[in-house]
Amino acid sequence: MTIPQLKLNNGTEMPAIGIGCDFSRNEYSVGKAIRESNIPRSEIFLVTKLSSEDHARPLEALQRSLDKLGVASPFTETWKMMESLVETGLLSIKPVTNQVEAHPLLPQHDLLDYCSSHDITITAYSPVGKHKFATEPSVLKIAQQKGASVAQVLLSWGVQRGTAVIPKSLNETRQKENLILVTLEEQDMHVLDNLHRQQGMHRSVCGFHSSELGGSCFGWTYAQLGWDMVEGGIMRT
Ligand SMILES: NC(=O)c1ccc[n+]([C@@H]2O[C@H](COP(=O)([O-])OP(=O)(O)OC[C@H]3O[C@@H](n4cnc5c(N)ncnc54)[C@H](OP(=O)(O)O)[C@@H]3O)[C@@H](O)[C@H]2O)c1
Repeated sequence: MTIPQLKLNNGTEMPAIGIGCDFSRNEYSVGKAIRESNIPRSEIFLVTKLSSEDHARPLEALQRSLDKLGVASPFTETWKMMESLVETGLLSIKPVTNQVEAHPLLPQHDLLDYCSSHDITITAYSPVGKHKFATEPSVLKIAQQKGASVAQVLLSWGVQRGTAVIPKSLNETRQKENLILVTLEEQDMHVLDNLHRQQGMHRSVCGFHSSELGGSCFGWTYAQLGWDMVEGGIMRT
């Protein structure tokens, strides 16, 4: 099976479908699985995350991640050199991809346009909407017409509009299913592009918008994050 590739602005290519993990708990296991797979490291596109508590010490966090993953990387030295160039003001680091929540209830159309115009890809997290679309009639109809699952339809939409998708599943059958895309018709894309326009639909599906957090996310207000949301992760418009 061939996974489409997205060209990044640094000259590399990234698979359009990635296997989503819970990075903070999985780095050790992911590294072990990579080593045991005997797949050459050069054939694996590995992404991890800088936690919010490590924003002031990216180099240490990167080294800790690499240690846990147990994969060799020449990046630490490169990173040090890049940081010193940034300090001189000669260089600013342009992102290659922007990882945001994206699925038909939160399609991020404007952000996708903005990033595309700056040659930055979008990586869609929660791309199957945490499977909360399972009973959505318009999505089910497309799935039936295509002989595909709801998840496959949502992932195909994500890749067909040019984003990378990182579905997470603990189930091996569903992990394999999520790698098989279908070709959606223009009218299917239109339906999925516009699903969020229905009353009350334009929203995040992530749990970190709970009312106990009072309209904030990990200590940041929606305004600080630039998210046009109200409590519960619901978009204002
Ligand atoms: N950067 C960030 O701030 C951020 C925030 C949130 C998430 N993420 C990342 O995004 C990735 C995925 O996000 P997510 O887990 O929030 O949402 P998701 O991938 O949209 O949904 C995961 C849920 O959907 C189910 N599922 C997956 N494939 C399915 C299929 N084919 N059929 C039926 N159900 C299916 C899974 O259940 P089963 O396990 O039972 O299959 C799981 O409950 C993860 O790697 C996560 O770490 C990043």
